[in-house]
Amino acid sequence: MIEDFPLQLEGYHGLSWISHSERLWLIDHLPALGTMVEIGSANGATAAAIADVRPLAEILCVDNFCGFDKDHLGDGQTLKANWMANKRPNMKLFTALTDILVKDVQLVFVDGNHSEDDTYTNLLWADGVLNHEGWIAVHDAFGVSWEVDVMKAVERFVEEFFYEKSEFVNTMLPLRRMDYDG
Ligand SMILES: C[S@@+](CC[C@H](N)C(=O)[O-])C[C@H]1O[C@@H](n2cnc3c(N)ncnc32)[C@H](O)[C@@H]1O
Repeated sequence: MIEDFPLQLEGYHGLSWISHSERLWLIDHLPALGTMVEIGSANGATAAAIADVRPLAEILCVDNFCGFDKDHLGDGQTLKANWMANKRPNMKLFTALTDILVKDVQLVFVDGNHSEDDTYTNLLWADGVLNHEGWIAVHDAFGVSWEVDVMKAVERFVEEFFYEKSEFVNTMLPLRRMDYDG
């Protein structure tokens, strides 16, 4: 059974589009001084909830606020305004992945446009910035209508690159980078 989401987390603006177990997994896999990239941040509620328990970690969020979530926003609310209200000192916002210049990232959370091509492009980008013990967590890979496209991208990616699919955490599929020398 799929665990409920989105969630209105107390003290945060707008909805967090992941479940409790998914958020806890992300927190567990982000080292205290690590860097996480969230591709598709929406209200930034998930990022802020993670930032609050990992205040020394760096959380880089990407979103072009392309119109997602209109139905859940109150009068005069926008995703970007919510993101700014949720912003913590260790969160940064980018409107395009290509604007982020990082390396040695421990965790990339893929939750943007869930088309096959965009998911695949996001996975390729993640591979380029991840460190050797890093994780990619792909959201909406199980139990939702767009899982088919998301999983097509994942299967293409793991066939070509050296990653191991882990156990699903609710709808989220973690991919562990394998040691190329091992
Ligand atoms: C499912 S929501 C993200 C939810 C968020 N991770 C959370 O936990 O609350 C998907 C987001 O991806 C963004 N998005 C979709 N396509 C994008 C693109 N090409 N570039 C940047 N952001 C994009 C949308 O604006 C939307 O806010």
